[in-house]
Order: sequence, then C-alpha cells, then structure tokens
Amino acid sequence: MSGLHIEAKVGDIAETVLLPGDPLRAKHVAETMLENAVCYNKIRGMYGFTGYYKGNRVSVQGTGMGMGSTAIYVNELISTFKVKNLIRVGTCGTIQEDIKLGQVLLAMSASGDSDANMMYFKGMHYAATADFDLLMKAYKIANSLNIKTYQGSVFSTNTFYDDAPDRWNIWKKQGILGVEMESQILFTLAKRFDVKALSILTVSDNILTNEKSSSKERETSFNDMMKIALEMA
Ligand code: HPA
Repeated sequence: MSGLHIEAKVGDIAETVLLPGDPLRAKHVAETMLENAVCYNKIRGMYGFTGYYKGNRVSVQGTGMGMGSTAIYVNELISTFKVKNLIRVGTCGTIQEDIKLGQVLLAMSASGDSDANMMYFKGMHYAATADFDLLMKAYKIANSLNIKTYQGSVFSTNTFYDDAPDRWNIWKKQGILGVEMESQILFTLAKRFDVKALSILTVSDNILTNEKSSSKERETSFNDMMKIALEMA
C-alpha cells in the first residue's frame, strides 16, 4: 500500500519525520546532512527521503506551503506510514520588535485562520498545541548546543498576501511570536491521531518593518534549526 501523494511503501518512512515546506530543502538536508539517504517520493516534486543521522533513522518530507497542502502529507504520513513524531522545520515572519531575524522559535501552540479547525470542531476553537515531550527535548538540545530559542505561540495563516495595514495588531498584542502557514493544522492533526508534533522555526523576516534576513543569516539560522531537529531523531 502507498499513499495517494506519497509513493513510498509502508516501512520506507522513519518514525520521526522532519517537515520543511520546501521540497528542495528536504533534498538539501538529505544530501548534505544525512547518511545513506534514499528518496522515497517524487510525486509532484514533493521530495521525501529516509536516511540516518548519527546512526538514527530519520525521514525528511516536503509539505508545500499552507495548511491545505500540509494536511495532505501529514494525513498520509500518520494514517498510511505510521509516523509517530512530526517536526516541522520552517521559516516565519515575526511581528514582535524584540525578536531578531535569524532567531529560532519553538512553537508551543498555533493560533490561525484555517477553516479546517472550525470544520473539525463544529465552529468552536481548538487550541492547537505542540507535544510537550518534543518541546522539552528540543529546548534541552538547543540549550546543550548553545542555541538561543524563543518559546511561545505562532499564528498559521492561509493568506500570505493581505493588504489590510493593521492586520497583525491584535496578534502582536496577544504576544504571537511569528506568522507562518502550517503549524496549526500539523498540531491539530497530530493530536487527532494521537501522535506527536512540534514546529521549529527560524525568523526569515519582520512583517511589520519588511526587513528580510540576509543569505548569511538564513544559512546560519537554518543550520541551527536543523541541528536541533536532527538531534531529535
Ligand atoms: N507570512 C506567512 N508565512 C511566512 C512569512 C510571512 O510573512 N514569512 C515566512 N513565512
């Protein structure tokens, strides 16, 4: 049996899967950070690889952008391939003045505007929460590697482009650290199927000031995030 969007065989995917939005990042991680990596998926160019990090088996699977695309891969990874730990590794824009570009966030929870959240819960609001064990583990690993992290809430949106000038004011006031497009549905689905999820994010831009990180900052923060995520396996 294989999934509709993932052409792997059951057993080809590790219990712990890292989930970048960008499939080329999955390929890059497999080629530069894993040993004996094997590609198990190329459908729609949404690469998935399984390999080893320090002897531990781990997979890395692109999800695409947004909650619709992410939900497809997360559903298949859990239901068909029996994945147990799903760790998003992505970028976000911050809406807080004291958070600098290139810093790493551990998302404890994700608010958002996904209709899926309302559909599943009859119009009520589920508090999409990361798994505490994974969060604690990531925090301890980051500390041991001397990588500073922020812990808190992020906002997952389905609309990247929105020209309302005051759009983020209420969320800034509410202490949201970063805005991205995938964590809310990841946390909701993981809990729904009784598996574990976490999002580790690097700050690629400041949405309020339009400041973007330099390629050097992006590379350093990507490597910091990946070191934490790969140690999780
Ligand atoms: N909006 C949504 N998702 C993002 C952003 C953003 O500004 N930056 C990185 N991911």
